Amino acid sequence: MIATAQAPANIAFIKYWGNKPGNLPWSDTISFNLSNCTTETTVTWQPHLAQDTVTIDNQPATQKALLRTIEFLDAIRSTYDIKHKAQVTSRNNFPMSVGIASSASGFSALALAAIAAARLELPESELSALARLGSGSACRSVPDGFVIWHAGQDRQSSYAESLYPSDYWDLRDFVVIVSEQEKKVGSADGHKLARTSPLFETRIKVNLPTRLKAVLHALETKDIKLLGETIEQEARELHQVALTSTPSIVYATNQTHELIDQVIPDWRRQGIPAYFTLDAGPNVHVIVPGGNPADTIRQNLHQLPYQFIENQPAPGARVISQS
Ligand code: DP6
Repeated sequence: MIATAQAPANIAFIKYWGNKPGNLPWSDTISFNLSNCTTETTVTWQPHLAQDTVTIDNQPATQKALLRTIEFLDAIRSTYDIKHKAQVTSRNNFPMSVGIASSASGFSALALAAIAAARLELPESELSALARLGSGSACRSVPDGFVIWHAGQDRQSSYAESLYPSDYWDLRDFVVIVSEQEKKVGSADGHKLARTSPLFETRIKVNLPTRLKAVLHALETKDIKLLGETIEQEARELHQVALTSTPSIVYATNQTHELIDQVIPDWRRQGIPAYFTLDAGPNVHVIVPGGNPADTIRQNLHQLPYQFIENQPAPGARVISQS
């Protein structure tokens, strides 16, 4: 009754921002899995345990993380008729809550480990829909490579599937860590506030359908310029929606702005097809094709005063041991 799963975080080209109950999004979204931002989670269903125990990065989980995990384990227990409490041990290889989706890798690894530890076998779509109950973006960390999350309208129909395997296109995501501080407003609260932004309706009705088409086409044709220009607009819009919500949420810092408004456009003027995207945090994801462009960006980033994590598209979540 013990299993360990490993799962990648993912970076969205088309973002999930604003939701309906049950972590149901307002639109399809698209992402790719990150090879060097992963979580490894072990779950043991223990017959004699009085309560769930959760350890994250060698520390007892905070009250907030514990409650969120218990809520998710309760959903698994009630769906699959599991009577036991769980011992959960989780390790991230990157800092949590800095705009790299630790909830995505965390809940997808937890979903797979919990199901494998219960000796259940589920189709990928069901595992993805299950991971979504823990964290919306976690559903996209289950399938391989480049992924689309079908918005759907209920628990079963909202899940992610692979568009292309991880070796389809050698893109890199350099995650530039401008701040390791935990963000003040988590995405769960941001999702609730999104609809208060006057920009939200146009985003859902007009901008997202257009951008989804553009990203699908850019992926199909491996068009980095179309992809890059679209994801930059998309990232700016996510931050504008957050800024114009009531209350307003500010995620970007001066460092974020320096990178996205000066440094990256400068690199482009030098002929390197590097583009940015952002999550709900200050860190900047630099998206660039592998080979010479990525080599140049790596060298350039070494000149800046920030740590960075280089990622390639990665396979999805998988069980790595079970007994
Ligand atoms: C900004 O999936 O972290 O990264 O469902 O509350 O866990 P919860 O939210 P989460 O939302 C992250 C949104 C985003 C954009 C994206 O990844 O699509």
